[in-house]
Amino acid sequence: MAMKLTVLALATTTLLAACGGSDGIDYNTLNGERPLVVGHRGAAGYRPDHTLEGYKLAIEMGADFIEPDLVATKDGELIARHEPNITGTTDVSSRAEFASRKTTRMVDGVAETGWFATDFTLAEIKTLRAIQPLAERDASYNGKFSIPTLKEVLDLAKSEGTRVGRTIGVYPETKHPTYHVDAGLKLEDRLLAILASYGYTQKSSPVIIQSFEVSNLKYLRTKTQVRLSQLIDGDDVALGGQVTLAAPFDKPYDFAVAGDKRNFITMLTPAGLAEIKTYADGIGPWKPYLISSKGVDANGDGKADDVNKDGVVDDRDRTMLPATSVLKDAHAAGLVVHPFTFRNEAKRLASDFKGDPAAEYKLFFELGVDAVFSDFPDTAVKARTNLGR
Ligand code: G3P
Ligand code: CA
Repeated sequence: MAMKLTVLALATTTLLAACGGSDGIDYNTLNGERPLVVGHRGAAGYRPDHTLEGYKLAIEMGADFIEPDLVATKDGELIARHEPNITGTTDVSSRAEFASRKTTRMVDGVAETGWFATDFTLAEIKTLRAIQPLAERDASYNGKFSIPTLKEVLDLAKSEGTRVGRTIGVYPETKHPTYHVDAGLKLEDRLLAILASYGYTQKSSPVIIQSFEVSNLKYLRTKTQVRLSQLIDGDDVALGGQVTLAAPFDKPYDFAVAGDKRNFITMLTPAGLAEIKTYADGIGPWKPYLISSKGVDANGDGKADDVNKDGVVDDRDRTMLPATSVLKDAHAAGLVVHPFTFRNEAKRLASDFKGDPAAEYKLFFELGVDAVFSDFPDTAVKARTNLGR
């Protein structure tokens, strides 16, 4: 695409403010403002997900926002975890005193076996320690950090923001809202009460609430002016680059329960985006919806080939495709676009990027994304700094 991102030789603060940026760059974002870096689950590439230590590191690395995914405890406290099932992100499976809590629960129509936050009080959760869920990442912090509450994350954002001299935003995600309603632990009013206690009730508040479901965002829209973001998921990426859908990643789970035929792909059509604009300020799409990649199937067996002959088939065997119209269409609808998730590992980078994650950020920043969810906020910030150089 023709790159609008250009360095402007502007001399006055007034002109800089007029172009929306503070650094003389005319960004392709919705409002021309510098794209945000969101510390995804903290600084998940460096520390176990959702720990105060990870969030603090993300802030020190320059993140503008930190992202707590939220689930509820049995006594109704909101804690930062990626799933109600805490088996993979805590040491609960090695704790003899909780062995009897192991159970099977349905989450978004899928049976899961393990230990669930909804079966633990906050006091019990506080005895657990976080572990690194991904085998390829540093496990040396396993067992060292506790599980934070949303309040502790908000307090950290405030205190660290004061320390580093920047306003640090918090980007909470309501995880599995329908599951929590079914468990008698509806998330939304609890979340709003906590945010209100910090004075976060306005569009200008340093908070954006996100959800993969729709009805809870619509409910939130009636209760708060805080910015809302509709997450858009997918199951996989086909050989040719099309995002594929399969339950439970095909549609918001509240749509599945209601028998609503719409899915995540139809939600990204201009009509779907116009509907989202009625209740949300932005979208958080899985990044292949914006720019996807394609594999090679030279022998016609329907499977992607190991192009680089390293013995595994992964993103290194794929090449990037031209951008879809989704970002342009979302901006035309007045929605900001905050794609997820940017990661440094070579196996997660298409061959075009030659193992350099900065090249992937550059591509998406130049397209005009308004924020990136990053597991490696330092890399994202550096790539943003290098734009226009
Ligand atoms: O919320 C953006 C992104 O975090 C969504 O994916 O699964 O990491 O929560 P997930
Ligand atoms: Ca999330």
